[in-house]
Amino acid sequence: MKIGLLGGTGKEGRGLASRWAKAGHEIVIGSRDPAKGDNLAAADAEVVVVCVPYGGQAETLRELAPRLEGKVVIDLVVPLVPPQVTRVVLPPGGAAALEAQALLPGARVVGALHHVSSVHLGDPEHAMRGDVLVCGDDAAAKETAITLVADLGMRGLDAGPLANAVALEAMTPVLLYMNRKYKKAGLGLAIAGLED
Ligand SMILES: NC(=O)c1ccc[n+]([C@@H]2O[C@H](COP(=O)([O-])OP(=O)(O)OC[C@H]3O[C@@H](n4cnc5c(N)ncnc54)[C@H](OP(=O)(O)O)[C@@H]3O)[C@@H](O)[C@H]2O)c1
Repeated sequence: MKIGLLGGTGKEGRGLASRWAKAGHEIVIGSRDPAKGDNLAAADAEVVVVCVPYGGQAETLRELAPRLEGKVVIDLVVPLVPPQVTRVVLPPGGAAALEAQALLPGARVVGALHHVSSVHLGDPEHAMRGDVLVCGDDAAAKETAITLVADLGMRGLDAGPLANAVALEAMTPVLLYMNRKYKKAGLGLAIAGLED
């Protein structure tokens, strides 16, 4: 699959790009800097992953909206408010993914990967594990995202409609708090009981 990563030059985007490339996908890196990548070229991919900070999401998507019509757009943006990244703050639209869908009415936005740390993605020696909760209003788009999660070595689970992105995005500051509290890096999620 051809995957475009907007902000693919960043910590999270680079990790995703290298693991998906290893799984056989074609990767296009998006960047505001033409020397490092090309957001417009990334938007020509079949699946586009939004890997920019929350503060840059609206401007990035507004510019690309016509090119993202009909595409699966995986939004992993967490609306953190530095420096207080261990406290939940909901954005005006409820969730970054809901705001993305409002900016991209023709795209099939999925929220996912909010709890997958770049610390682990970027370490080629680290075997990825845990669950990735995937939400969205388009069933086929969610299935595409779940398949791509499997290609990272993780288990993707359908977590309901895009409105549930509020809960998924809000969980990241909780994990960031727990990283500090328990002196860990890159804590993630695993759902108990599915095998029972
Ligand atoms: N890091 C993690 O562990 C992690 C985990 C889950 C979710 N996330 C989410 O993933 C997204 C990226 O996180 P990151 O840690 O990879 O961030 P990052 O390294 O700080 O930035 C990612 C890229 O976004 C681009 N960018 C920066 N400011 C921008 C702006 N104002 N407008 C448009 N593009 C901008 C930059 O690329 P160019 O300069 O090349 O344009 C940068 O390389 C965030 O929304 C974050 O909440 C991160």
